[in-house]
Amino acid sequence: WPGWGGGSRLRFTPVPPNKDDKVTVPPGYESSVVVRWGDPVLPGAPAFDFEKQTAAAQARQFGYNCDFVSFFPLGKDRALLWVNHEYTNEELMFRGYTGGATATEEQIKIAMAAHGGSLVEIVRAGRSGQWKLETRGSRRFNRRITTSTRMELTGPAAGHPLLRTQADPKGRTVLGMLNNCAGGVSPWDTILTAEENFNQYFGASAGVPAEAQPALARYGISTSALPGRRWDRVEERFDLTKHPNEANRHGWIVEIDPYDPHAAPRKRTHLGRFKHEAANSSLSKDGRAVIYMGDDERFDYIYKFVSTERYHRGSRRHNMTLLDHGTLYVARLTGDSPPAEIDGSGELPSDGAFDGSGVWIPLVRGDKSYVPGMTAAEVLIHTRLAADKVGATKMDRPEDMERNPKTGAIYVALTNNTARTAAQVDEANPRPGNKHGHVLEIVEDRNDVGATKFRWSVPLVCGDPSDPTTYFAGFDKSKVSPISCPDNLAFDSDGNLWISTDGNALGTNDGLFAMPVEGRERGYVRQFLTVPLAAETCGPLITPDQRTVFVAVQHPGEGGTASPENPVSRWPDGDQPRPSVVSVWHRHGKEIGS
Ligand code: FEO
Ligand code: CA
Ligand code: CA
Ligand code: CA
Repeated sequence: WPGWGGGSRLRFTPVPPNKDDKVTVPPGYESSVVVRWGDPVLPGAPAFDFEKQTAAAQARQFGYNCDFVSFFPLGKDRALLWVNHEYTNEELMFRGYTGGATATEEQIKIAMAAHGGSLVEIVRAGRSGQWKLETRGSRRFNRRITTSTRMELTGPAAGHPLLRTQADPKGRTVLGMLNNCAGGVSPWDTILTAEENFNQYFGASAGVPAEAQPALARYGISTSALPGRRWDRVEERFDLTKHPNEANRHGWIVEIDPYDPHAAPRKRTHLGRFKHEAANSSLSKDGRAVIYMGDDERFDYIYKFVSTERYHRGSRRHNMTLLDHGTLYVARLTGDSPPAEIDGSGELPSDGAFDGSGVWIPLVRGDKSYVPGMTAAEVLIHTRLAADKVGATKMDRPEDMERNPKTGAIYVALTNNTARTAAQVDEANPRPGNKHGHVLEIVEDRNDVGATKFRWSVPLVCGDPSDPTTYFAGFDKSKVSPISCPDNLAFDSDGNLWISTDGNALGTNDGLFAMPVEGRERGYVRQFLTVPLAAETCGPLITPDQRTVFVAVQHPGEGGTASPENPVSRWPDGDQPRPSVVSVWHRHGKEIGS
């Protein structure tokens, strides 16, 4: 593998930037849709009919805006695919939609049913790396999770008064999950799905009590108006004037067992409450479960959770308790170069790297709080306020975090932060007005994810390579692909980093990129695919046999208009856009990236 210092085995011809309304892959590769918005998930679900949508049908069909993708093999040619449905674009889902205030109640219920996630059985098509939705048979694991699925709150904050409502006076049962963006898979093969921008569903028709306001404000929840979706019109709980604690019951990591269709999803309060993005797991040297998590907001933080007990191979019942007992940490990063050398020009400091050391600051361990003036439950429910008090490092929107299976280093996608001023740059966030984002590399002390200290560096500062503020780990910038707004991360079995983007600020479509992180090709970014108009690239997921990469094409056509300069996407079927998961494979069955 590349760690010896040689080149990578990536040989594909990069895809040039484009504005095409399709998925473009390198020569020799093919792609096809696996499952799209409205496809049947539960046996007996009706076929999709754009003109005759109902909430009852949507609750049995594939939801909208597919994001995180995970893959659970059921044999060589059969698997379960889990997909998050982050949010909805009502303006693309319904003809003549003019907002939540004027929507029909049925439209609001359809949108609510299009949130959550889908678990679907898929089958390999022939001997290639192409996969298709299984539409026959019992599909006994297939499942739809929606805004009305009953879920349990577990861990130290469960039952706390701040989590109690009229409908749930014990504070232990919640309906649904909201805005599930990225996620991860636990070492015991459960889905960890991350509630992100849950704030956008809540508001207040006539204010909230004064004592609730500071926390709501820190989470970006309006206390003076109702949000545009107006879900309160069908469920009062979305109006915080009437049900002030309902928003506290969202913003969690949710654990779902893909092999038990009847088990309630569990909101794991010990992992904290924020705009959760990743939840990627690893095991410490002594066998404890470690979950890495980002809070995707400008100037927010990087977290990790370390379980108290060890993972026991083969003991699912024990492992399913691990996320309820442990320590939640937040990261502080300190640069090792003089601050005066971090001047925003893109020029490296005199030691040759944006790098330094870091510590994991404990916030809470079980019932013990490390934050002055806050109880353990308060730290978990208002994690952002707790992290503000302990001097955590404000980052440029931490999105996905992923551990390299070859080297053990952890990578963080910092998607962008145009609000960072020249006075606010630091060595870990070295660019002011950071509109293209960067990637951070963390190496834990002794390469042990249970450690409380680490080293870090910045191998990639994104953008057009002709822009002097970009940095591609010192690789020849005349050879790399332009890249902007890194969001989701994955690794292939050689330890190459795969980066998908959201919000390409270079004016072309988003896509998927590969970058070796070791050897002489470290920093050699190449674009592997592009997605249709206005879509972001999610997933990505490379199958264990390295023969397929799945990407979720999220919100094709978002923000499009009737003007020729900014057309609405018509992908994938030539009519209204439908968010879809695609599989990509090499025509001759070669490994992805060959
Ligand atoms: Fe939904 Fe942070 O991206
Ligand atoms: Ca340095
Ligand atoms: Ca994301
Ligand atoms: Ca994003």
